[in-house]
Amino acid sequence: MQAFIMQAQLDNAKQLLDLGCGTGSLAMLIKHDFPVIDVTAFDCDQKILSIAVNKAFKAQVDIQFVQAFAEHLPCQVNCFDRILSSLLFHHLSWDKKQQVASEIFRVLKPGGELHVLDWGRARNGLMRTLFLAVQLVDGFGNTRDNVSGRLVELFEAAGFSQVSEQQSFNTVFGTLVHYRALKGNAELPEN
Ligand SMILES: C[S@@+](CC[C@H](N)C(=O)[O-])C[C@H]1O[C@@H](n2cnc3c(N)ncnc32)[C@H](O)[C@@H]1O
Repeated sequence: MQAFIMQAQLDNAKQLLDLGCGTGSLAMLIKHDFPVIDVTAFDCDQKILSIAVNKAFKAQVDIQFVQAFAEHLPCQVNCFDRILSSLLFHHLSWDKKQQVASEIFRVLKPGGELHVLDWGRARNGLMRTLFLAVQLVDGFGNTRDNVSGRLVELFEAAGFSQVSEQQSFNTVFGTLVHYRALKGNAELPEN
């Protein structure tokens, strides 16, 4: 997780969103390391958010946890200069991945950055085989685009520039990839 946080280069960040925050571990690490950043964290699952709120309360870190679906972010345009998301996208169908990528683009400030950690193209046959366990649990439909390496194409189609895989590493469940994407000053793509 520290490598993912370092990738986001948060020294000058002001407003940050952790999308699909789960129990809030990433948001709390960030707030601990960068206390001046306004950290907001969204998740659609109220029970998971309750755990996150309790953890943050006990650790005395100030994070705004909000129940929200990533497909319909309750934010104005240009709200955040960083959006980080860990292990959310492989839960979404291709249509929802597209909606979420567009929503992220909408609420990021021009010049803002998206950083995603998720399952990506398997680095070898063993990684591809191990990933079958994730697919059995999380569904073949939602995870196929990840392991096919389509997240770069997804973010580019949403309007992001300089989309790249920053690093990938093998785990016992397959290959995890860190992605980075920039919202330039360009207008939203038509369609
Ligand atoms: C595998 S967990 C990852 C949690 C955390 N980001 C982490 O890396 O530990 C995926 C999270 O995404 C949330 N999630 C799934 N679909 C979502 C959606 N459409 N909108 C918002 N959150 C969603 C789930 O409730 C869950 O907490």
